[in-house]
Amino acid sequence: MKVPLFDISATHIDLYEKFETVFHDFIRSGNFILNEDVRQFEENFAKANGSKYALGVSSGTDALLVALLTLDIKPGDEILCPSFTFFATASTVARLGAIPIWVDVHKEDFSIDLQDAQQKISEKTKAIIPVHLFGQSCDAEALIQFSQKHQLKIIEDVAQAQGAQSHHRKTGTWGDINAFSFFPTKNLGGFGDAGMITTNDETLFERAQCIRVHGAPKRYEHVYLGGNFRIDSIQAALLNLKLPYLEDVITIRRMNAQLYQSYLKDVKNIVLPQERPDSYHTWNQFTIRVQHQQRDALKMFLEAQDIGCAVYYPKTLDQQVALRTLSSDKGKPTINAHVLASEVLSLPIYPGLKPEQIEFVCEQIHRFFKENAKGTF
Ligand SMILES: Cc1ncc(COP(=O)(O)O)c(C=O)c1O
Repeated sequence: MKVPLFDISATHIDLYEKFETVFHDFIRSGNFILNEDVRQFEENFAKANGSKYALGVSSGTDALLVALLTLDIKPGDEILCPSFTFFATASTVARLGAIPIWVDVHKEDFSIDLQDAQQKISEKTKAIIPVHLFGQSCDAEALIQFSQKHQLKIIEDVAQAQGAQSHHRKTGTWGDINAFSFFPTKNLGGFGDAGMITTNDETLFERAQCIRVHGAPKRYEHVYLGGNFRIDSIQAALLNLKLPYLEDVITIRRMNAQLYQSYLKDVKNIVLPQERPDSYHTWNQFTIRVQHQQRDALKMFLEAQDIGCAVYYPKTLDQQVALRTLSSDKGKPTINAHVLASEVLSLPIYPGLKPEQIEFVCEQIHRFFKENAKGTF
């Protein structure tokens, strides 16, 4: 049985005709830049997310970059970043000449470790970027308290966790300014690259709006060093059609996660991902931890059975050549992050996956450990 890691078509089944109509109208409209579709998508997005303002941008990476520019992050400023995340969380910081300070993560839920963060604060620290990795929100209350105590701005990296909650607070509503991605594999996946910024602060919103279009509040009046960070109007139009189905997508992902939990609960050599009690998980990834150095062998075994799986991420960001000289762990390595990079393996969890496919993946995992008994068996 073939089980791909991801198949976007499953989330489009009932929408193809609507997509085609919207696309047809769009190419005939001749109105391609920041059109009415963008305005409507931003309005609907803000409403669905529960934030005051939403601003469509060109990608999740650019959402982070615009957020940092909007907060006026300058060369030499220090930004607390988890070292176990996607490159863009920190590359955007370094591109501004600011310094990503590597903070460790919790092994249980991959969220940023605030005790480690606290030890790495200096008078140069300006902000913290909690990354809601794999679809689970970081602890919103703990982060809000932490940022208030240390007077830091919060930039939520929501790329992987649109619709998630912590203490009944939705991701993208409690940071100062927050970044979403519509990369096709995300829970609200686009048809190419696109992203969104949310904020509840009018001043930040207006500044971000300018930065999105070359820092110009008026045509040819450039007040900030912005850029072209506009969302494509066609992405906004198509994503607007998908937005009402996001909750359904998340519900199916949650059901798939439950199936994995029940089929895999007795496998001794893996640690299953957990939903924290304060949290509503959106399961953008179902990421297990494979112990006793068996991760790569399990991955090869599953791939040989035509089961897609992937390692997000095989290296921590402090190990990335591009960031090595531009960042710091302040002499305290991020040990959990390094362990995770050697243990994590993400299994298929997309909506459209059939229960028998999940059962098959789990059977093969059981089979692998029966044939390769090690450690605690
Ligand atoms: C945690 C995280 N941050 C930022 C990004 C960047 O988003 P994009 O690919 O839309 O630029 C991603 C994309 O995978 C991500 O996973």
